[in-house]
Amino acid sequence: MSDPDVELEARLAEQDSFEPPADFVEQANVSDPGIYEEFDDNWPDCWTRAADLLDWATEYTEVLDDSNPPFYEWFADGELNASANCLDRHLDDRGDEAAIEWVGEPTDEANRTYTYAELHREVNEFAAALRDLGVEEDDVVTMYMPMIPELPVAMLACARIGAPHSVVFAGFSADALATRMNAADSEYLVTCDGYYRRGDPLDHLDKANEGLAGVDHGTDTVVVDRLPNSDSFGHDRTDSQHSYADLVADHEGATVKPVARNAEDMLFLMYTSGTTGEPKGVKHTTGGYLSWASWTSHAVLDIKPEDTYFCAADIGWITGHSYIVYGPLALGTTTMMYEGTRDYPDRNRLWEIIEAYEANQLYTAPTAIRAFMKWGEEYPADHDLSSLRLLGTVGEPINPRAWKWYYKHIGDESCPIVDTWWQTETGGMMVTTLPGVGEMKPGSAGPPLPGVSADVVDVSGSPVGAGDAGYLVANKPWPGMLRTLYRNDERFIDEYWREYSQVDSDDSADWVYFPEDGAKLDEDGYITVLGRVDDVLNVSGHRLGTMELESAIVGVEGVAEAAVVGGDHEIKGEAVYAYVITEEGYEETEGLRDRIIEGVEDAIGPIARPEAVIFTPELPKTRSGKIMRRLLEDIANGDDLGDTSTLRNPDVVTDIQSRAGGD
Ligand code: PRX
Repeated sequence: MSDPDVELEARLAEQDSFEPPADFVEQANVSDPGIYEEFDDNWPDCWTRAADLLDWATEYTEVLDDSNPPFYEWFADGELNASANCLDRHLDDRGDEAAIEWVGEPTDEANRTYTYAELHREVNEFAAALRDLGVEEDDVVTMYMPMIPELPVAMLACARIGAPHSVVFAGFSADALATRMNAADSEYLVTCDGYYRRGDPLDHLDKANEGLAGVDHGTDTVVVDRLPNSDSFGHDRTDSQHSYADLVADHEGATVKPVARNAEDMLFLMYTSGTTGEPKGVKHTTGGYLSWASWTSHAVLDIKPEDTYFCAADIGWITGHSYIVYGPLALGTTTMMYEGTRDYPDRNRLWEIIEAYEANQLYTAPTAIRAFMKWGEEYPADHDLSSLRLLGTVGEPINPRAWKWYYKHIGDESCPIVDTWWQTETGGMMVTTLPGVGEMKPGSAGPPLPGVSADVVDVSGSPVGAGDAGYLVANKPWPGMLRTLYRNDERFIDEYWREYSQVDSDDSADWVYFPEDGAKLDEDGYITVLGRVDDVLNVSGHRLGTMELESAIVGVEGVAEAAVVGGDHEIKGEAVYAYVITEEGYEETEGLRDRIIEGVEDAIGPIARPEAVIFTPELPKTRSGKIMRRLLEDIANGDDLGDTSTLRNPDVVTDIQSRAGGD
């Protein structure tokens, strides 16, 4: 490192707050600090600012109906169509401009550009095809697809005809697909033959077919041929499996009038992990969700129609829904999609893409930033990244060192960073600085967005005040919030509201949303999110329920009991550590260890692969028989165990420690 670099590193290491760059502020979509007060004074009507970013088929007359908390309704008598908002209304001004820039993983393959006119045409054709297959308004259509353009096409085609979609991450297992299709009674699946991972074609249809075998009702399936030969893997297609290309060709030039949906009608379902083994079907609506995705894309990501915006997430997660598809397209910008992994064919890939497309924003996860940091600054340094105007992070806490590395080596100290806290359930960002307004503090997400009321409280619900740790809560509803858990209002109340609300009250002021995260507040009202306080792990920014993991492990022959905790991991943030007791008569063998790992991959997917499987004759339990997970976490991290006297079986910890150490 040269002298100026050393000086710079030293200065950055000491600096704990950063002003938004003046050039950025000058052009920012939102730059008036008065917006916080303005929204507070004018709540809930302030949210017309978000709804006004959309075109409404029927104007709403009421912003919020809070007469039946926590079943809030937003813009409830308005009508709109999400696909019309993402496509039709841009045709006059932006018809020939790129809506989607798609980059495939193989470097020798032609990338694809969809202009707004082209995307509109294909969405119409596929919407007509879906209708012909029998899809009606309110039928749930499942998508099990990787990062190929047909995924957003299918989502928007569903939105056009008022059929909610349920996208299942392509990396999830066949079992996970079946569970989600059964839970939603979904009779339609859109999937593909395969895709590329690290240069090799991967058979996806095989996994989809295996999942379909576990679906308890009949289904029609549409298969996109992503790979060069439609029979690459030699699958026989049945009568209920239709070729996407044929369907679209059969409906060439078709137009489908966008269905006017009530603002409160479901736009999509997204299943996410919770504390029980059963995934939660988070329900998002057409008006509130789309307003939220659009407003936050405008105010936080600073998206303008002429931008080329790059979010490196996967559309199979909420980040991709809100910030690759709905928010950016509603604003008429160019949104990028990259099919592959960030280090294929080498560690320059992301920087090459940014350079080639002159991307203006990069929105990614701390796990990616930690990997870039580990690989070294020489990779980004070799590329011209000066097109970047804003950087963002999402999904997990970012440590100040990684923040500063991102700021310096990717943003060249001239891009604000938005550290955005939110969840599948919130629909979009909730806590972050506004990039054109707020001072940034590495490691702290920032204040709640204007109009968002969040606080940090103790177990009794009293605010903890500056400096202390507690639980993050939202005291007021917001348009992008989930409306319920699909077909399970009771679990919706139990999971998110019961902890801090007076659940018998019909006064909205008595209802408090609990996202199940721990947090700390500083003297400026900035929130540092500390992580989940429930039994959910955050592995590479993805949520995995310990119950789901444990039931997958217990399902393996030879396993009697299992406890899963998150251990610290340099890149993933958290990694899965499994403590396993074998059944009588079974040996603690490498073979069993492999079967356990395989069992988890089969039940959930490779993202859930345990980092370590530690066999143990016993688990540390309290006198009442509860597993002491904190101790298991400390063991995984090699931390000091502190007081173990409350255990029924204190001796077991030293035994487990020696076994974990030897792993
Ligand atoms: O624990 C928080 C963490 O990710 C959880 C939400 O996960 P999911 O629903 O999968 O959505 C991820 C993308 C929004 C939260 O409960 N989380 C998310 N963003 C942050 C975060 N933790 C700290 N800082 C963040 N910026």
